[in-house]
Amino acid sequence: MAVGGAITSVLAWQIEAGADEAIAEAPFDRFAAASERPRRSPESPPEALAAPGGPASIPVAAGARETASAATDLESLKAAFEAFDGCALKETATNFVFADGAPNARLMFIGEAPGAEEDRQGVPFVGPAGRLLDRMLAAIGLDRAEVYITNILPWRPPGNRNPTDSEIALCLPFIERHISLVEPAVVVAVGGTAAKALLDAREGIMRLRGRWFNYTVPGSDARIPLRAILHPAYLLRQPAQKRDAWNDLIAIKKKLAEAGTDG
Ligand code: URA
Repeated sequence: MAVGGAITSVLAWQIEAGADEAIAEAPFDRFAAASERPRRSPESPPEALAAPGGPASIPVAAGARETASAATDLESLKAAFEAFDGCALKETATNFVFADGAPNARLMFIGEAPGAEEDRQGVPFVGPAGRLLDRMLAAIGLDRAEVYITNILPWRPPGNRNPTDSEIALCLPFIERHISLVEPAVVVAVGGTAAKALLDAREGIMRLRGRWFNYTVPGSDARIPLRAILHPAYLLRQPAQKRDAWNDLIAIKKKLAEAGTDG
């Protein structure tokens, strides 16, 4: 194979593997850096992980749960999550993406994971899907500064691949604590991954959207109305589905009004 052809095929292979951006001038061996420090304690082997929402006895997830529960406010949760070394996505992400918007908002949006633009800026929902989410909010008279926006995972999965069940299980205690600290009047799960993780559901988004759930905040009796909506990234590919998304947004607006709050 000619040199040019070989380089092109190596580049194509890297893009397929998720290395789709040039982040720095010089290469950095993240695998070498990662192997220098233990990511998991010996008593918590990776095979002990279970699906999201699974038994709280999973050793690695239990460590995450203890760390997350110890956080008494959003600042300490952010610091604890950012310092958490149990999820390997941290090794490949450029930035830790925690949240955006108003911490005292009554409406909390929870997406799946940062994409390329979010990873670059360290802010959730700022890429093409985020711009559509902004327009969806505007359609019901809201601005992103009035709501609270975060994701199940704070680190971008390489190449925007789907997060694994293990990655979700590891990060779930943090989003659960995040919800209990924000105490929103309404939670919106953005897309199937977030909906399934928060509801511990097996059904897909098409069955989960269009109805209300009661989200039980772990460790408390509090119940928060939760609505799942179609992910804006999906709506960008399937604009005909925007009608369903619109119906869910109207229902969310109505629920907020019933709860005596608009945003
Ligand atoms: N998709 C998500 O689920 N979250 C983001 O922050 C961006 C895109």
